[in-house]
Amino acid sequence: MNTPVKSQSFEHPVYNYQVVRQFAVMTVVWGIVGMLVGVLIAAQLVWPALNFDLPWLHFGRLRPLHTNAVIFAFGGCALFSTSLYVVQRTCQVRLISDKLAALVFWGWQLIIVAAAITLPLGYTSGKEYAELEWPIDIAITIVWVAYAILFFGTIMQRKTSHIYVANWFFGAFIVVVAVLHLINSAAVPVSAWKSYSAYGGTIDAMIQWWYGHNAVGFFLTTGFLGIMYYFVPKQAERPVYSYRLSIVHFWALVTVYIWAGPHHLHYTALPDWAQSLGMVMSLVLLAPSWGGMINGIMTLSGAWDKLRTDPILRFLVVSLSFYGMSTFEGPMMSIKTVNALSHYTDWTIGHVHSGALGWVAMISIGAMYHLIPIMFGRERMYSIALINTHFWMSTIGTVLYISSMWVNGLMQGLMWRAYNADGTLTYSFVESVQASYPGYFVRLVGGAIFFGGMLIMAYNVWKTAKGENSDNAVGTPAAQPSVSQEASA
Ligand code: HEM
Ligand code: HEM
Repeated sequence: MNTPVKSQSFEHPVYNYQVVRQFAVMTVVWGIVGMLVGVLIAAQLVWPALNFDLPWLHFGRLRPLHTNAVIFAFGGCALFSTSLYVVQRTCQVRLISDKLAALVFWGWQLIIVAAAITLPLGYTSGKEYAELEWPIDIAITIVWVAYAILFFGTIMQRKTSHIYVANWFFGAFIVVVAVLHLINSAAVPVSAWKSYSAYGGTIDAMIQWWYGHNAVGFFLTTGFLGIMYYFVPKQAERPVYSYRLSIVHFWALVTVYIWAGPHHLHYTALPDWAQSLGMVMSLVLLAPSWGGMINGIMTLSGAWDKLRTDPILRFLVVSLSFYGMSTFEGPMMSIKTVNALSHYTDWTIGHVHSGALGWVAMISIGAMYHLIPIMFGRERMYSIALINTHFWMSTIGTVLYISSMWVNGLMQGLMWRAYNADGTLTYSFVESVQASYPGYFVRLVGGAIFFGGMLIMAYNVWKTAKGENSDNAVGTPAAQPSVSQEASA
């Protein structure tokens, strides 16, 4: 039975929707900020003068700002929002503490603001995806522990007998990211804003890429698979294709991912056996990755026709296709002879964004379109037509981005290894940079189109929050879905 919404406060009689709604709105806000910086640095690679000779607008400082903003602010808010929603709905209990939920939300926003100030100022530990200096690292640890207590505490209070599989993926994401952060960020502070890694030389590199790869594996993959296991069945209104496969998927993924990091250090001072182990484990990783993708896509069995009319479902399913593509490409790039060509080139950047734009961003956007009307007590988003426009802009933007980077990457790799009969290099480095300009321009166009889609999303969310409906201008707040309706996934 539906429970009518009281006034415009949007509060649910049982669940804490406030924190879910706050994180959902900030997902859109930080998505816009992070991608705007992405578009700016893409433009700087076409017109370097766009750094305006200002140190804080320099490519080297804005690039980590972009990666931190899109991964931890945009991706992070999407993960907080969905995990705190799913854990309540599937355990049929409210979060154990509203105060802790508020601490997680405001603490995370503060950390993002601290990153947005310190990175352009040049404060960095120099470790990719872990650039933030030690005081911010301590704040991250505190917020993460609060998040873990909130999530696992709620699971312990659950009214259901089993723990729905999405929570397994969210749980693994929370535990492993905590371990990665604590170990990789161990450092010796020398001043308020400068520290040095606790590890030296090759060990430091190994720990950094064990972290870096598993940040991809557990932050950008496992958490988003949690989103897939809840929102794809919900939006398709079908049960998950195979519950048994989801359990095999979970254990295989978490067991294998953790070993694959050394593929980032091929042909370095890292012992050769460790590089080969990383390569083999990366190849094995293809199986669980595709197992998960198949489980998600096959959930549409008997509901394929919905793809014609439901752009939210299209976002979710196309994101799974990009997940499949990037998890096929990754194992191929981990083969040492292939990596000898791809490493240092734009091929890596193309691979990153087929995962980042195609998979991470598109599944987050799909989940937000499902979640946001519920959070504001509306029947549906303001305009379905605008969601459809956004879908096409995201798809076309991603395809332009990744195809231009593949062309650039292959060309750069081949130009760098070409040599003449007398053993001299055929091309100088600068010639390969010059040849890359058309690709950089196409990437900028693709990125700008993707970014434009995010602005349309913001407009659609704003109108939805106000209760407007594109069909009749002013919509009525919908009844909140009942517990039994929503927890049936
Ligand atoms: C409008 C969308 C976006 C644009 C225009 C864009 C652009 C860029 C550019 C120009 C770079 C630097 C490439 C280089 O150094 O040669 C970059 C790096 C990166 N971006 Fe994006 N980006 C976008 C969205 C995203 C999203 C949504 C994510 C993650 C969810 C992401 C994750 C990354 C990562 C991880 C890197 C570093 C790659 C590496 O070090 O190999 N980007 N991006
Ligand atoms: C089976 C799964 C995957 C494997 C085996 C894999 C493998 C690889 C390999 C071999 C590289 C190049 C390393 C180098 O030459 O430096 C790489 C880079 C990267 N991949 Fe993947 N990949 C996988 C999936 C993904 C997914 C789904 C994403 C994003 C959501 C992703 C994000 C990245 C990022 C961000 C980098 C660049 C790291 C850096 O140098 O900064 N990967 N991956």
